[in-house]
Amino acid sequence: MIAGGEIAALLLLAVAAVVYFVFASFLAGAGYQPAFPAVVTSMLDLAEVGPSDVVYDPGAGTGAILFRAARERGARTVGIEIEPVRVALLRLRRYLQGPRDRVEVRWMNLFEADYRPATGVAVFLWPEAMRRLQPILEAQLAPGSRVVRHWHEIPGWTPVRVDPRHRVYLYRWEGRRPSAVV
Ligand SMILES: C[S@@+](CC[C@H](N)C(=O)[O-])C[C@H]1O[C@@H](n2cnc3c(N)ncnc32)[C@H](O)[C@@H]1O
Repeated sequence: MIAGGEIAALLLLAVAAVVYFVFASFLAGAGYQPAFPAVVTSMLDLAEVGPSDVVYDPGAGTGAILFRAARERGARTVGIEIEPVRVALLRLRRYLQGPRDRVEVRWMNLFEADYRPATGVAVFLWPEAMRRLQPILEAQLAPGSRVVRHWHEIPGWTPVRVDPRHRVYLYRWEGRRPSAVV
């Protein structure tokens, strides 16, 4: 029979595991929260993701965007994730469900990634992480690349399409910020 003390210890362990899974990656830039399916649909629709796209997901989480972009839209996708348990889950999903030839999982810091091959970037990150990522994208993305973001707008950029219901904002990076146009 399990004693009260053991139940308490198990509960504490479960709470600690959840706290770690959701919040530990805040130390690296952002905590974990998966995008809802309807939000992912909106992001893929607004950005018109298709088979010729290379979609990056900085902070890929458990792959809410990554796998649907590859499976449903035929895109090649690159998921960047720093938290090792989620990286293991992403790799397991890729192995079991695929498509293995179109989904790539990189265990690394999203602020050190090379975004130059991206034709699209799907972002669901909180403002502080976006503040650090934005200049990296501005320096690396090719003109014409799309960036689609959930929940917050991108400061200084002008969205070309908006889904207010799902709080999804689509941007087309033209090589410089609109405010820099002379
Ligand atoms: C809000 S979740 C978004 C998950 C996924 N993109 C989605 O929309 O469902 C943010 C993710 O970013 C990851 N993350 C935070 N800081 C990171 C960093 N410096 N490098 C890579 N991933 C990071 C977290 O571990 C977390 O899984």
